[in-house]
Amino acid sequence: MRLHTRSAGEGLPVVLLHAFPLSSAMWLAQREGLAETCKVITPDLRGFGGSALGEDEPSLDVMADDVARLLDDEGIDRAVVGGLSMGGYVTMALCRRHPHRLLGVVLADTKASADPEEARSGRESIASDVLREGTSVLVERVLPGLLGRTTLQRRAMVSGRVRGLVQAAPPQAVAWAQRAMAARPDSFDTLRALRVPVLVIVGEEDEIAPPSAAGAMAEAAPDGRLEVIEKAGHLSAVEQPEAFNRAVRGFVAGFGGGPAPRR
Ligand code: MLT
Repeated sequence: MRLHTRSAGEGLPVVLLHAFPLSSAMWLAQREGLAETCKVITPDLRGFGGSALGEDEPSLDVMADDVARLLDDEGIDRAVVGGLSMGGYVTMALCRRHPHRLLGVVLADTKASADPEEARSGRESIASDVLREGTSVLVERVLPGLLGRTTLQRRAMVSGRVRGLVQAAPPQAVAWAQRAMAARPDSFDTLRALRVPVLVIVGEEDEIAPPSAAGAMAEAAPDGRLEVIEKAGHLSAVEQPEAFNRAVRGFVAGFGGGPAPRR
């Protein structure tokens, strides 16, 4: 599967993998704000945005292999790879399957634990309901958890934009991705085995992947650090892009990949 990708900037490659049920469109502020520091590469994961779904069975490993193939196609040996929520699950699958492709890892608003049984059945119900009824199901059951209370109360433009991205998600891709996420393994051993620096980012108002989950991930990684973003919920990169970009810029500067972080 060749992924449709949007890129900006030059220099150290930084691949950012989007959340469910969004697309590379969510990284607009990162393509704009990080392009002076590095080459920002933001693919649409399979089925979302401009990428086809293909015929494979649902699996985060398949998505991770797509990203490794993207690096091949771009002529990139090793990159900083990061993901937000579902993008983080794909990043952890990449850590398991293609560790030699990594310079560093960014895990934002994501979890290293597997789903408990109740969450798995919730995913299956969303998958089958979306296939039957369309994306209104997502607007009712997924959208409310994506944004923090500050954004919901004060930032109607951001909420409206995210709502539009959610409504654009293709039902087949939604169902496929829910089933792929339901099958994911616990990834704490993967984090413990990492031999590259790891930046864990979390919105302080994230209720889907809360700060306690982020703290456990940063502790598990031998070279992990934690950045908590104020006034942001689950979509920290969209809700507080400047703070998110500052954290990534600081991390990337550690690889000699750009100018000193702007404060
Ligand atoms: C996401 O934002 O990618 C989702 O919340 C991930 C999930 O459902 O676990």
